[in-house]
Amino acid sequence: MRHHGVVSVWTIVVAAGSGERFGAPKQLLPLGDARVVDHAVGVAATVSEGVVVVVPPDSSWTVDGAVIVTGGTTRSDSVRAGLEAVPGAVDIVLVHDAARPLATAALFERVVAAVRDDGADGAVPGLAMSDTVKRVERDVVVETVPREALVSVQTPQGFRTSVLRAAYARGAEGTDDASVVEAFGGTVVVVAGERDNFKITEPGDLERAKAVVATREGVR
Ligand code: C5P
Repeated sequence: MRHHGVVSVWTIVVAAGSGERFGAPKQLLPLGDARVVDHAVGVAATVSEGVVVVVPPDSSWTVDGAVIVTGGTTRSDSVRAGLEAVPGAVDIVLVHDAARPLATAALFERVVAAVRDDGADGAVPGLAMSDTVKRVERDVVVETVPREALVSVQTPQGFRTSVLRAAYARGAEGTDDASVVEAFGGTVVVVAGERDNFKITEPGDLERAKAVVATREGVR
C-alpha cells in the first residue's frame, strides 16, 4: 500500500444473484434512463480505474465500460471470481451490490478515503438502527438487543486489495465482504451510509428506487 501519490482503485459489482425473493433477475430491469446494474457501474466508475461486473452463469449480459466475469453459487464465490479479474497492482478494491443502484459518488469517495487515509484494512457504510431490535426463535422474542451498539451496513465496502484477496483465498463465506475480512483478523471501520442506498430486494423496492431517480433527474 502506498501512502503517497496516486492510489489505484477498482470496483467489483456483484450481479450474479438469481433474485429469488424478487421473482426475477432485477439487475436488468429499467430504472430511469438505464438498467439497475448500469446505475451501480456508472457511479463506481467515478472513483475507479476499472469496474468488473460479475454476472450469472449462462447469461449474455453486456455492460458498457466494464469487464464481465461469471459468478458462482454464493455471493462470496461471485466476489472470488471478480477478484481474479482485478489487476495485481491495484491498491484498493471496492465491492458493490448491483442491487444498490442509488449509492452516490460521495459515498464511494468516503469509503475509499477511509481505507486510504485511516490505516484500516476495510471500510463499510453503516446506518444507525432506528427500530428496536429483538432476537427471536421462530416468532417468540428471546432478547431485546441494545441498538446503540448496532449499525446496519451497506455496500460499497472497500478494502486493501491484498487483505481482501487473502481473506477470500481461505474459501470463506459471508453475507458481506467485511465479515470475511473480520474473520481473517482485519480491521474494518464504519463511514456514514445513505438511506437511499437500500438494496432492491422486493418489487416494492424498485418502485421506491424509481421515485428517487425521478426526483434526482428532476433536479438535474
Ligand atoms: O442475495 P443478496 O441480496 O445478498 O445479494 C446481494 C448482491 O450479491 C446482489 O447484487 C446479487 O446479484 C449478488 N450475488 C452474486 N452472486 C450470488 C448471489 C448474490 O453476485 N451467487
